[in-house]
Amino acid sequence: MLDLSNIQGNILLGYASFPHARFLYLGIRSADDARALVQRLLNTDSITPAQWDAKPDTTLNLALTFNGLRAFGVPEESLATFPAEFQDGMKARAKLLGDVGESSPEKWDEPWTTSQVHVLVMIYGKTADVLEARCQAFREMLPSGIEELGHQPAGLLCIDGETTRREHFGFVDGLSNPSVEGVHGEGKARAREDIGNPDGKGGFRKIPVGEFILGYPGEGGELAPMPQPSLLAEDATYLVFRKLEQNVQAYRRYLDEQVASFTQALPDGVPAGATAREFLAAKMMGRWQDGSSLVKHPNEPANDTGNTFGYAGDPAGARCPLGAHVRRANPRDALGFGGRTMSRRRLIRRGIAYGKYLPPGQQDEERRGIIFIAFNSGFDQFEFVQRVWMNFGDDFQQGNDTDPIAGSRKEGRMMIPGDEKTGRQPFICFDIPSFVETRGGDYFFAPSLTGLSLLASGRVQTS
Ligand code: HEM
Repeated sequence: MLDLSNIQGNILLGYASFPHARFLYLGIRSADDARALVQRLLNTDSITPAQWDAKPDTTLNLALTFNGLRAFGVPEESLATFPAEFQDGMKARAKLLGDVGESSPEKWDEPWTTSQVHVLVMIYGKTADVLEARCQAFREMLPSGIEELGHQPAGLLCIDGETTRREHFGFVDGLSNPSVEGVHGEGKARAREDIGNPDGKGGFRKIPVGEFILGYPGEGGELAPMPQPSLLAEDATYLVFRKLEQNVQAYRRYLDEQVASFTQALPDGVPAGATAREFLAAKMMGRWQDGSSLVKHPNEPANDTGNTFGYAGDPAGARCPLGAHVRRANPRDALGFGGRTMSRRRLIRRGIAYGKYLPPGQQDEERRGIIFIAFNSGFDQFEFVQRVWMNFGDDFQQGNDTDPIAGSRKEGRMMIPGDEKTGRQPFICFDIPSFVETRGGDYFFAPSLTGLSLLASGRVQTS
């Protein structure tokens, strides 16, 4: 039975209704101080669980890197039982993840380049003021043996005076997450948005919680490898944290450059209800900017953020291109075999934007992007999506071409298949520059409240 009061918040149930966030990066200089800090947070019920009676004004959650666990004094016998990817850390896996060239770790922002982050503190707030106050109160609690190495502000974008769920390229984000067994969401609306795995009969079924939380059976009915002691691992998960910078000007420039030749591929001119530029942007993302799926609404945006659709009825990608971002990131039923080749590649995404929105037509030197946060019960889930689906296109008949939005590349291509029904010609986007670059991040372990309590006790033992 799933114990939501023991699992940290923002994992199975997201903090979508908190518009402001701050990520504090801590370095541990004294294991005793680290344990005392966590004990104090637990004693004061300061760590937010997945379930609450009344919604708090702010939330606080913790996750640790491998070096962070070591700095806490976790013994080597226990450390050795953690997955190899986690032991390596994200920097060491840069090449595999496509973090090369402008995305390579030498070019990351501080503190990722020169310091070792041990603890990630994630604080969310209903308002900017309560968030600030909570961060301040937390900082005042820090003992001398814990150093704040830096922090990252983040928050929902404000566009034309309105707080939105859009990311910097202008698309509504945070729409599709896995529908997990035993998790009912914050009401019917939320549950309706989540999508399970193909059931092999043309529909979708919920995903076993073991794909995301340690200690429960996963898709194959078995437990993910458990670090020892199991008390530390049960109800915990692994967190992928990446600072992804978006080059909004390059993205908009590319659309501007392509739109004239793309228009020539449209037999009846621009589709009703959208401009050719919006159509091209939607083809690259797989959804219109307002979140409407191209599968459901191939010709114009329909203000429909619904998430229950598949690609099996669009095998050639006439509606949603085979290489579009959302189709690559979660192919749903597109790869056949009843979904068996994709069912273990799901990620719970809890990303949030950072930096100010750049109004169209304007230019500036500011930096902006997404704090990409994903939860999985093994880093092989994230690494597969990143490596095989984002940065290699073979599963989608895209050869070596990387994802048009998030792919790592110098220059890429994407095929937008034509549509026999309407006579639309195929169109190839050539010379797509890199729109997204990695600026930092690491792999983290997010223990349960029991696990944090064990860490605080200093009595982690494998036997
Ligand atoms: C700055 C880079 C990125 C941007 C701007 C971006 C944007 C988006 C948008 C607008 C959506 C559709 C809305 C939604 O379903 O929530 C989406 C979906 C998704 N993205 Fe990304 N994304 C980025 C990077 C990534 C990366 C690096 C990954 C994985 C390694 C990823 C995985 C996903 C997944 C799994 C979905 C849901 C697909 C579905 O279930 O239909 N994204 N992204």
